Amino acid sequence: MNIILLGPPGAGKGTQSAGLVERHGMRQLSTGDMLRAAVKAETPVGLEAKAVMDRGELVSDAIVSALIDDNLAAMDAQTGAIFDGYPRTAAQADDLDRILARHGRSLDHVIELEVDVDALVERITGRFSCANCGALYHDTANPPAKPGVCDTCGSTEFKRRPDDNEETVRTRMEEYRAKTAPILPGYEARGIVTRVDGMASIDDVAGAIDAILA
Ligand code: AP5
Ligand code: MG
Repeated sequence: MNIILLGPPGAGKGTQSAGLVERHGMRQLSTGDMLRAAVKAETPVGLEAKAVMDRGELVSDAIVSALIDDNLAAMDAQTGAIFDGYPRTAAQADDLDRILARHGRSLDHVIELEVDVDALVERITGRFSCANCGALYHDTANPPAKPGVCDTCGSTEFKRRPDDNEETVRTRMEEYRAKTAPILPGYEARGIVTRVDGMASIDDVAGAIDAILA
């Protein structure tokens, strides 16, 4: 099973990917997470990507498609892939078709998380994650069960993303509207798009996604 989770910043792609990994043993391929790891490690890709990400603009198609290709190459053929935050442009969508074919895979579902744009800034500015294991939280919608302690690994260190400020979020949303949303009709023509109400609770969104994959 190979699926794309599509939706604007804060739609819940990372949150739902984590659930799918846990429930179905799939693998999350988040280009945002890969790029943040490259920035942290100060690799050539990270050095090139950092300023672009801080502005909320899109990193080059060649860089992100190469990251996806390399990660798929290292994956067991039986393990399902969740594409989180990729593809984000028409060129990346074309790249993905070629990359999947090369690895003997094909796309099963494109799941669009439909969200109310007004709620996204609140979601993103309230987001934080465990500095040790990366588990995602939200100040009000999804706090750790015990305040200040990660549910998953028990760490007490948390962090916030540098691009999670209101101004950068607006640029990220505009990039989504202008460059990413236009790739949907191509997938619709292939009959593989399903829309899910991304404003429902995290558990209800997960249930709706599981119903699509069943
Ligand atoms: P990326 O990391 O992909 O960021 P994004 O697309 O802006 O999406 P987010 O990670 O912000 O949101 P999400 O949908 O994962 O939401 P989450 O589950 O965390 O990309 C970052 C940057 O990297 C880009 O701007 C670009 O520069 C670059 N980049 C990455 N991929 C690229 C590509 N392919 N091409 C070019 N450049 C690329 O949820 C958000 C918050 O809401 C959390 O706090 C969560 O707890 C909460 N929440 C989630 N679901 C719910 C719910 N149902 N109800 C209430 N709260 C919820
Ligand atoms: Mg994410």
